[in-house]
Amino acid sequence: MSRDHWSGKDVLSILDFSRQDLEQLFALADEFIRRPGAVEKSLSDRIVATAFFEPSTRTRLSFTTAALKLGAKVVDLSPDASSVMKGESLHDTILMLEAYSDLIVMRHPSEGAALLASEVAKIPIINGGDGSQHHPSQAMLDLFTIKRLKGRIDGLRYAILGDARYARTVTSLLYGLSKYRPASVYLVSPEGLRLRSEIKATLEGFNLETQELDKIDDVLGKVDVIYMTRIQKERFPDVNEYERVKGSYRIDKATLVKAKGAIVLHPLPRMNELAYDVDSLPSAAYMEQARLGVPLRMALLDSVLGRTKK
Ligand code: NCD
Repeated sequence: MSRDHWSGKDVLSILDFSRQDLEQLFALADEFIRRPGAVEKSLSDRIVATAFFEPSTRTRLSFTTAALKLGAKVVDLSPDASSVMKGESLHDTILMLEAYSDLIVMRHPSEGAALLASEVAKIPIINGGDGSQHHPSQAMLDLFTIKRLKGRIDGLRYAILGDARYARTVTSLLYGLSKYRPASVYLVSPEGLRLRSEIKATLEGFNLETQELDKIDDVLGKVDVIYMTRIQKERFPDVNEYERVKGSYRIDKATLVKAKGAIVLHPLPRMNELAYDVDSLPSAAYMEQARLGVPLRMALLDSVLGRTKK
């Protein structure tokens, strides 16, 4: 299988990859799942750096686990314990990580931070989330999960519920879906959490049709995938705006009675929008989604770094 298009590349946005690239990635992740004993230590002479300027559980730890499983060593910046606290610039911090490692996985609160890092460093940068802009590996994981659980991505009906305004997971998933042919995409959110107009315009440019709705009840029973997100409290420029939409949507076991066969995804962490009583339903797929983060990110690291020359 040719992975040349991935080799040595920055992963800043899912938009930079074709459907064929994504399918190659998913096939490799499937292979890692199918034959766990046969995984080659393709990164045994490599060092992966993680630099998370925003909190993270799943993205940081699944990248770390993925790197370790491929034989790489991992160094972690921990900004709070680094010279970032003394005021060192992102530019200089990235130059240091470049000197110490072969690839940087970075999360940052500022949009465009990953792009800046990629301009500074000659080694590949994987964007683990930049502000409310991109989160490419999450969208790849979301599509991979849908493919594994539903057998396909094309032709399905999607409801994306929650914070379409600030959640980078929503934007990135929509960008990812624009490479496929979903039957329908419903964006379900209250007024203050609707998709930003520039994102809507971008999606229209890709011919991805979306329909905006207020209430999930309107589409329950008509969708195959329900993708939930928490309200991104930390991104609201005005706390009053947050107060207005806080607690405005929630799914529990009773809600899902009408959801016939739909799977429920969530990038996590969940707040009160997703009740714990959903966990026991066969449709609850978010924990499996989080688990699949390891093979998917193994495939990503292997594709980007496994075959590059030192
Ligand atoms: C998401 C993120 O950081 O964008 N988390 C994740 O990576 N799984 C979602 C969120 O924080 O709500």
